Amino acid sequence: MTTVTVKASKIYDVQIERGLLSSAGEKLAQLFPPPRKVMLVTDDTVRALWGDRLISTLREIGYTVFEFVFPNGEASKTTATIVGMWEALAEANLTRTDFIVALGGGVVGDMAGFAAATYLRGIPFVQFPTTLLAMVDSSVGGKTGADLATGKNLIGAFHQPSAVFCDTDTLQTLPASIFADGCAEVIKYGYINDPALLERLQQPFTNDPEAIIARCIADKRDLVEADERDTGARQLLNLGHTAGHAVEALSNFSISHGSAVAIGMVLMAKAAVTARLCAADVPAHMEAMLKAYHLPTVCPFDAAALAQVALSDKKRKGNSITLVLPSSVGNSRLHTISADTLADFFAGGLH
Ligand code: NAD
Ligand code: GLY
Repeated sequence: MTTVTVKASKIYDVQIERGLLSSAGEKLAQLFPPPRKVMLVTDDTVRALWGDRLISTLREIGYTVFEFVFPNGEASKTTATIVGMWEALAEANLTRTDFIVALGGGVVGDMAGFAAATYLRGIPFVQFPTTLLAMVDSSVGGKTGADLATGKNLIGAFHQPSAVFCDTDTLQTLPASIFADGCAEVIKYGYINDPALLERLQQPFTNDPEAIIARCIADKRDLVEADERDTGARQLLNLGHTAGHAVEALSNFSISHGSAVAIGMVLMAKAAVTARLCAADVPAHMEAMLKAYHLPTVCPFDAAALAQVALSDKKRKGNSITLVLPSSVGNSRLHTISADTLADFFAGGLH
């Protein structure tokens, strides 16, 4: 087992190991001595694949387990689902000494965390991420929330989990395309500030993901500890996301998040080279890496369309926008430009 400890406004351990859905009981019982009520939040796909295993563990500890299960996918990440969670928590009469367990990908974790942040003005929650993306990114760091019709993640709260258990066995049932989405986020850490991770990723990591997942979590932990509220260094985690979110939206979400981030990273690297802010070898290095993990690198949209969508994103601040730009292989930095120049900047990345 590998453990990464996060020292943010709350101190908690992230454990990574095969079989944790069954073996996390002792640690859970230490954190939350029974008897207590637990609301298991999950989606229908994950419930069918992995729910029984975790419910048995929770019952063996001595918890009374309630369930809130919703249809899988981003379309469920709505205020209506959150209201359903609040009602389920109230009907089961959970109190502040009880807790929520999130079992699933980022959609489950973000919404379960938001329900935990807001129900009774805050109750604890624990994450059991089951996608690669959720293990390396969304389950750690305390960003919780849901989408509005006007945009993704427009409501939310910072609420750190009490513990995170990454059972790498759950990755075995992930469809290849969803695993590839997670690989985009893994690769992202390398280009933010971890050249040694990029070296390690030259060999496929699918057979032994524990060390890679732990390294990504440690990279994220460092940025979260430096800037929990996302006003500075944590924004580096948005590498590829400003253009990527625009690609996702313009494709009506037919291009997945990970694919869009991959396209966005390459676009930003090329644009940064054009602006003489990045070493010339970065785009080719990135393209080769992303292709090796079955991710796309070519943007199908024009600069004006991308800029229009990107400027409606919550990353804009007044008339400026902060971009994450690679500077060399394994290094990135924040760079703020005027919103009026974003389309021209993107155009420099579309060749
Ligand atoms: P997701 O939760 O929708 O999961 C993707 C699909 O995989 C779903 O259909 C789900 O049912 C299925 N699935 C999950 N685990 C499975 C398993 N083990 N086997 C088979 N199928 C499984 O999406 P995601 O990619 O995990 O997360 C994306 C979400 O995360 C977005 O809403 C994004 O905004 C959010 N996010 C949040 C943060 C954060 O810091 N909070 C960071 C990055 C992304
Ligand atoms: N995924 C971006 C962050 O946690 O800040």
